Amino acid sequence: MKYSRAYFVELVAKLRERYHLDEGCEFFLRLGLVFQDLFENYRYLYGDKSNWEYLLDKLCGLLVEKYQKREDFLKKIDREREKKPAWFFEKNMVGYVMYVDRWAGNVKGILRHKDYLREMGISFVHLMPCFAVPEGENDGGYAVKDYGSLKEGLGSIEDLKRVALDLKKEGIFLMLDMVVNHTSSEHLWAKKAKEGDLFYQNFYYMFPDRVVPDEFEKTMPEIFPETSPGNFTYVPEIRAWVMTVFHHYQWDLNYNNPYVLYEMVGIILDLANLGADILRLDAIPYLWKRLGTACQNEPEVHRLVQIFKACVSVVAPGVLFVAEAIVQPKEILKYFGEGENVGKECDLTYNASFMVCLWDALATRKVRLLTRTLLGQPHLPPMVSWLNYLRCHDDIGLGFDDEDVRAVGYTPREHRRFLVDFYLGHFPGSWAKGLPFMANPKNGDVRISGSLASLAGLEKALEEGNEEEKKLAIERVLLLYKILLSFRGVPLLYYGDEIGMLNDYSYREKKEEVNDSRWVHRPFMDWQKAKKRHDGESVEGRIFQSLVSLLEKRKNLEVLWPHVSQSIIDSGNEHVFAFVRSSSQDMLLVIANFSDKTQIVSGHLLEKIGMEKPIKDVISEREIPVSDGVMILEPYACWWLKEVS
Ligand code: GLC
Ligand code: GLC
Repeated sequence: MKYSRAYFVELVAKLRERYHLDEGCEFFLRLGLVFQDLFENYRYLYGDKSNWEYLLDKLCGLLVEKYQKREDFLKKIDREREKKPAWFFEKNMVGYVMYVDRWAGNVKGILRHKDYLREMGISFVHLMPCFAVPEGENDGGYAVKDYGSLKEGLGSIEDLKRVALDLKKEGIFLMLDMVVNHTSSEHLWAKKAKEGDLFYQNFYYMFPDRVVPDEFEKTMPEIFPETSPGNFTYVPEIRAWVMTVFHHYQWDLNYNNPYVLYEMVGIILDLANLGADILRLDAIPYLWKRLGTACQNEPEVHRLVQIFKACVSVVAPGVLFVAEAIVQPKEILKYFGEGENVGKECDLTYNASFMVCLWDALATRKVRLLTRTLLGQPHLPPMVSWLNYLRCHDDIGLGFDDEDVRAVGYTPREHRRFLVDFYLGHFPGSWAKGLPFMANPKNGDVRISGSLASLAGLEKALEEGNEEEKKLAIERVLLLYKILLSFRGVPLLYYGDEIGMLNDYSYREKKEEVNDSRWVHRPFMDWQKAKKRHDGESVEGRIFQSLVSLLEKRKNLEVLWPHVSQSIIDSGNEHVFAFVRSSSQDMLLVIANFSDKTQIVSGHLLEKIGMEKPIKDVISEREIPVSDGVMILEPYACWWLKEVS
């Protein structure tokens, strides 16, 4: 069966009759725009099933049902956003991530701290997964057992809806997690599967013996080798091996089964209907499994994401997708959609390459890998963007492209070893206090946990009572913020970092956290400490006030907003990172010294980009002299340079 206009016309007629929808209504107009792609992708994935057309029809019916349930005020917002597809990127967007319980107690509590968000000028909040999970271990919310209710103690779905609405009135959008790759082993589907229900057993990957699992294991890496080695878990109730790529209690969904897709699309649309503006598609590279591969980034994953996106663009076109694809730089890019598919997958993707290269530059004091990696990132069209960040709830994985690492003169293995040693504080002269995460003796991999401030040296400096080191640590934090807030894309701040919260070792006393060092950087928000933010002498105040001032400046500098173009340039000094943001009206040059020594940059840099002297640093409001043809940067200095008008 091939796509034809007649097929679509017939489908519309059927749906119209079934759901009493007016033919010309926006729903069908939108469906008409995406249907051919939807059809082709669906057929590609499920065309071998004898009833695939019936199932596609059913999926379209689901879209109508969810559309009919969508509240009018959300539909109104959708229409406004449809008229301006780059609505999100043509503004000064800044996000803030929080665990609801750790930051505000419960969802309503978020509103009590609205002023705090307002003080920073936050434009969207990412609530870490807040749906129902089993007691005890649940991977920080990523083992969802029910999307129809919230985690114990957080409140009701109605509360969440109200909070979404209230935040929206404040101009703050809502980002929610959609855990698409797996469910908790306590999810209703998993429970039914354990009871022997074949329909639900087909929702997961289950094998009666080790034959197939062993084949898979030959090529699949391990995500949590310390706590959940291997990719399969034996389930005694049904005497089967279930695929569990993450933890043993997170069962991977089987997207070969079109009913899984159907259910997951339904949940995505329910989250959209709650009032979410952005959905974070968790662990997206893992959605499709194929024997003989790493089971990551398979081409079918992109087909699935395109289907999700098509469905959302029919029912809730105002909703954006964020890809959480912490993979190789080349693979990350594909989640924007490739070629003519740009805009048909995710609107934002975590810029993990940028993040890890910033940490690389801080440790090596050299910007070669950072510059090279970023030069490899293509220019993005204005309706998609990077989500830039320094820290998040996860570890830092050293996911560089080995080719880049070699090209800048390092040996990949040794270089990773160095970075781990450095951030765990073992390397002579290191200031960092990170922790190892998931060391894998089989391949030598180690990832790094730790809060922004602790990795940047603040914890060690405070312990040692070393004022000079404390000052440097704060400068490192601010250097990173200055780059984050001027780099092209949408910046996402991680809660607690704004007041320099340190590692929190209390997880070691908690049974369900002790084996997962990521909890060291998932503290309870310290509101007492936050009060010190108004004291400009305190550490909290120094970081917070500088950050707020940067955020203020960014708000007033359109040239720094996500849609404005950027080029990475060679500063001529291996310790100094440089890039230009430029629009038809304005130009801004960012120069950042990653070393703890004074550095010199040639004034020719200005000529090269067509910037005329005199110039000033917008951050300090100070004119920057170019004497004897050079500019002199203090240790960790970062300037946002503009022509003095
Ligand atoms: C994502 C989350 C991470 C979680 C994993 C499994 O990568 O960010 O915290 O452990 O998915 O859901
Ligand atoms: C791996 C996964 C990523 C996840 C992380 C959690 O890096 O690729 O999706 O967030 O593990 O530690």
